[in-house]
Amino acid sequence: MKQFPEGFLWGGATAANQCEGAYLADGKGLSTVDVIPAGKDRFPVMLGELKMLSCDEAHQYPSHEAIDFYHHYKEDIALFAEMGFKTFRMSISWTRIFPNGDDPTPNEAGLKFYDDVFDECLKYGIEPLVTITHFDVPIHLVETLGSWRSREMIVHYERLCEVLFERYKNKVTYWLTFNEINMLLHLPFMGAGLLFEEGDDVLSIKYQAAHHQLMASALATKIAKRINPNFKIGCMLAAGVTYANTCAPEDAFKAMTKERESYFFIDVQSRGEYPNYALKMMENEGIHVQMEPEDAQILKENTVDFISFSYYASRLTSADPKVNATTEGNVFASLKNPYLKASEWGWQIDPLGLRTTLNMLYDRYQKPLFIVENGLGAVDMPDENGYVEDDYRIDYLRAHVQAMRDAIALDGVDLMGYTPWGCIDLVSASTGEMKKRYGFIYVDKDNEGNGTLKRSKKKSFEWYKNVINSNGTTL
Ligand code: BG6
Repeated sequence: MKQFPEGFLWGGATAANQCEGAYLADGKGLSTVDVIPAGKDRFPVMLGELKMLSCDEAHQYPSHEAIDFYHHYKEDIALFAEMGFKTFRMSISWTRIFPNGDDPTPNEAGLKFYDDVFDECLKYGIEPLVTITHFDVPIHLVETLGSWRSREMIVHYERLCEVLFERYKNKVTYWLTFNEINMLLHLPFMGAGLLFEEGDDVLSIKYQAAHHQLMASALATKIAKRINPNFKIGCMLAAGVTYANTCAPEDAFKAMTKERESYFFIDVQSRGEYPNYALKMMENEGIHVQMEPEDAQILKENTVDFISFSYYASRLTSADPKVNATTEGNVFASLKNPYLKASEWGWQIDPLGLRTTLNMLYDRYQKPLFIVENGLGAVDMPDENGYVEDDYRIDYLRAHVQAMRDAIALDGVDLMGYTPWGCIDLVSASTGEMKKRYGFIYVDKDNEGNGTLKRSKKKSFEWYKNVINSNGTTL
């Protein structure tokens, strides 16, 4: 069977706030992710229901130290290189570059840090894949503008892009504009820095913010192509096929509607216009979005080059309001699927669902796809040397790589690469925990922040090294 194409981009993925730490180092400003605590208040804050715009003594904030990639990046990238990474997905911390978001000039120390990280990658022939914003808004812009509910955010985002594209035009080719852009519908503070007051028209605010991000993404693409026509710009979707709970036509229709909730964003970013179903849905739901006359043309002229997405689990939905046994621990509401096993956090494991998702996205957009997140969050038990026998993780990844291979070889999907999430253990976005680990590399740190931060290779390290080395033939 034909295997992975030559030049397939094997690698791993991280995000600034979940690994860098050093949250105020070298002039960095405070960002939304820095004020989202671990513990019971995390979800209300991520939802934008509990307002927290600064840090206090009563809470613990996982981003502040994270795994201190800021001071360990050389050691970490050397380990990625040892596994044979062709690419490394990472994100820019906006407030390292513009500490307040609207500063007249960028912070040189922040720019220098990413120069150093990119140079370190390039030294090993690792291609950086850079997310411009991964759950990250300067607090100052939340306080002064209400974040993405304001159109003014677009200008600040454009300035960030202009600076990044100019500075790194010879070091970075692959850029993603917004991580999991559809997340703003589900975790609005986490996804877009949105806060709500009593009486707010929440849906209109969310879709207004979405419009601003979609415009910002299109304008970023425009700036990118002016600065370096070889840049490749991608969107990024939190994906996962939604199944119907039964073969009742109502359930099938509900599943389609749920899919469209996410596809909406990518339809705009990839096809360049609002789909009719979204316009009608907004009209029917009384959602009001202010658009300017020039917006339609900007969206149309600046579509993405490729579609990237995260895939952890499939979803299951029912049209029957009495069927409401949703699984716990999921950001995306889903019924429990009796055919699937789940992770310790209730994320339902479905490799064939990945093949289905790849096919659905490729059928819809006919643009190259890139899986930029996938993996199993699990509790690891290291021995005294920090070695973890994580066969459960290997099993999960093997099954998903096989599903990718089938999508390429049997279905003809055009897949550019694969960057499993948290290639080195890092802070969990949904729970703020360290114990929910994804990595090939173990980091000695616990939920309370104790540990030496020492890095050690898990069993999956060697396994993934062989996968890359054989271009996906040795699984
Ligand atoms: C995605 C995010 O939603 O899933 C990542 O882009 C996140 O930031 C990942 O870490 C896994 O989720 P979690 O909650 O297990 O960390």
